[in-house]
Amino acid sequence: MKKKLLALSLSLAMAFSLAACGGNGGTANSNTPAGDGSDDGLIQVGFAQVGHESDWRTASTKSAQDVFSEENGYELSFVDCDNDSAVQLDAVRNFIQQGMDYIIIDPIVDTGWDAVLTECEDAGIPVIVIDRTITDSDKYTAWVGSDFKVEGLACGEWLKAFAADKGIEEINALVIEGSTGASATIGRTDGFKEIADREGWTILDSQSGDFTEAGGQEVMESYCQSYKGQFNVVICQNDNEAAGAMTAMDAAGVSYGVDGDVILVSFDANKPYVQLVMDGKINANFECNPMAAPMVDEIIKQLENDETPEKKVYVTESWFAAEDNIKTITVNGEEQEMVHVTQEVLDARPY
Ligand code: AHR
Repeated sequence: MKKKLLALSLSLAMAFSLAACGGNGGTANSNTPAGDGSDDGLIQVGFAQVGHESDWRTASTKSAQDVFSEENGYELSFVDCDNDSAVQLDAVRNFIQQGMDYIIIDPIVDTGWDAVLTECEDAGIPVIVIDRTITDSDKYTAWVGSDFKVEGLACGEWLKAFAADKGIEEINALVIEGSTGASATIGRTDGFKEIADREGWTILDSQSGDFTEAGGQEVMESYCQSYKGQFNVVICQNDNEAAGAMTAMDAAGVSYGVDGDVILVSFDANKPYVQLVMDGKINANFECNPMAAPMVDEIIKQLENDETPEKKVYVTESWFAAEDNIKTITVNGEEQEMVHVTQEVLDARPY
C-alpha cells in the first residue's frame, strides 16, 4: 500500500507536468483503463509491448492477455508501442503515474533504460522484463526470455553439420537481420557470425528487415538483384521475414528449401512456419518461445508472497529441420536435438 501511495503522489505531480507539455504518456493503444488506485483486489499490471510486427509478437501479446485476465486476478493495461522506443519510455512513465503494481517491459532496444528503471525503482514498482534483454541497467526485478546468441549459434552449428552431410563445400550466406538495436537481432547475428568466422564462410551481406514480412521481402528483392547466382544460404532472423524472402525469391526465380538451390533458415518456429519446414520450403527453423507470460505470473505470485524470484529465467526452445539427416548438434559444448518435423510434431505445436 505504501508503494501505491507513493506512486499516486508521484502520479499527481507527473500528470500535471505531462499535461503542461501536452504529452500523451504512451496511452495510445492502451486497451484497458488502469491504475485508478481503486482497491478492487485485482493486481494492476502495465505491459509495454514492442509492437505488432510479427506472428511471434501476436502470440506473445495473446499469451499476456490470456494470463493477465480479470478471472486470474489481474487488471492489464496493455500498450502496443509500435516499435517506437520513445512511445515505450512514455508508456512506462505513464504506468508509474497510474500506480501500477507491476510493470512488464519487452524492450524494443537493449539500451537507454537506466533513467526510467530508476524512476520505477523510486516509485517502488517492480519491473519484469520479458523476451528481449536490457544491457545498460540491472534495475529490474526479473527477466524471462530467450538466449538469442544460443539461437544464432545453433543455426550455425546446424548449417555446418548439414553442409558437411550434403557435401557442400562453400557457404555464401545472406542474412536478413531483425530490428536494429533489438537484443534478438544482436544475439542471433553474433551467434551465427561466430560460427561463420570459425568455419571461414562468407557472409555476403547482412541488412535489417525489421522483423516484418514487408521488410524481409524488400531486403531479399535487393539481394536478388545484387547477388543473384552468388548465394546458397539465406538466414532470416524471423518467420515473417522468411515469408517476405520467399515471395522475393519466387519472383526472382530463385529456388530454395529441400529441393532448391538455396538453403533457407528461419527463427521463431510459429506453427505455420513449422508447417513450411515440414513442406520442405524452409530447411530449418530455430524456435523463439513467446510464452513468457505464465512465468511472469509465477514471478508476481512469488513477489506477492514476499519471496525473491530468480533474476534470469530462460524459456525452453526447440530446433526444427525439414530433413532427418542431422539428429543432434553441439552448442556451447551441449548436445541438442534437431527435431525432424512430422505431422505429429506439427500437431503438437502450441502456437
Ligand atoms: O524479440 C523476439 C523477436 O521479435 C522475434 O523473433 C520476432 O518475430 C519478434 O518480432
